[in-house]
Amino acid sequence: MKEKLDLILKNGLDEIEKANDLKSLDDARVKFLGKQGELTSILRNMKEIPPEERKSVGMQANVVREKLENAISSKQEKLEEENLISEMEKERVDITLPSKGTKKGSLHPLTRFNNKFMEICVEMGFTVIQGPEIDTDYYNFEALNVPKNHPARDMQDSLYITDNIVLRTQTSNMQVHAMETLKPPFKIVCPGRVYRNDDDSSHSPIFNQFEALVVDENVGLKDLMKMIDTILKRLFGEDVKMRVRPSYFPFTEPSIEIDATCQMCGGKGCSLCKGSGFSEVFGAGVVNPKVLEMSGIDSKKYSGFAFGPGIDRSVMVLNKIPNIKYLFRNDMRFLKQMR
Ligand code: DAH
Repeated sequence: MKEKLDLILKNGLDEIEKANDLKSLDDARVKFLGKQGELTSILRNMKEIPPEERKSVGMQANVVREKLENAISSKQEKLEEENLISEMEKERVDITLPSKGTKKGSLHPLTRFNNKFMEICVEMGFTVIQGPEIDTDYYNFEALNVPKNHPARDMQDSLYITDNIVLRTQTSNMQVHAMETLKPPFKIVCPGRVYRNDDDSSHSPIFNQFEALVVDENVGLKDLMKMIDTILKRLFGEDVKMRVRPSYFPFTEPSIEIDATCQMCGGKGCSLCKGSGFSEVFGAGVVNPKVLEMSGIDSKKYSGFAFGPGIDRSVMVLNKIPNIKYLFRNDMRFLKQMR
């Protein structure tokens, strides 16, 4: 019996040693230690062994089992580690291979123009503010000296939510919010969306404006024109020419309209500028003292000027976009051309 156990041990260790994957290792375990295994059957048949040998055979059988079990578990560990290493080898990324290239996003043309404008204003000392697109009639009209039934309301085809709440028709509502909350002197600029009931190839119910407001002591028309000249040169280049026309806005007195060299034809005259070589860019003016007073600013001490360009037209011309709707549809085919 002793020899038989020695042989089981030797063969067992041999097979465990030879197993080169987890499957054959498990086969070896079943063969020697499984329910029908060679060692198990000896242990099961202990009764048939003469009593005087039983103790020593039992002890030897246990030693054999222990040795085989230890050999199996250390072999298993080894095989598992080898598996892991080979898996990792397979998944290794070759960082020296050329890349497939990345898909780069790009900024929307409106955002690019917006950013450029903001940058210029910030360099001039303006603070950028944001405000509500849905506002009360008071901020959009009343506090800007456009009382109910004032004919100037006809210029802006307003979209009302209730009798008193309106989708802002102009970023000028931010003039009032700024004057109510900031102490002069201050310079604010507010970019944002505005809404009007207007819809054709050059008008969209949503479009974008800026509102710039400067409130200080002794500021007026001359400062306004100088600032606009600087901004236009920064936006469109040193050669840009500016033209000023008298206009009317209830919140400014005097009110002006600024035209700049048409960016489509460079001033030669085209269908866009109707042959004039100029296109309209800004409404502007010196803040009506009544408007300052309504928002709690002492108009004897302070004066102000403001301007409010729409930017969609400029973006269309600079990028040769034929219909304003393209700016709002988010059609990837269009946006990819705008990179
Ligand atoms: N809010 C005016 C518009 O939508 C534009 C404008 C004119 C803004 C004169 C101003 C301003 O700040 O002073 O047509």
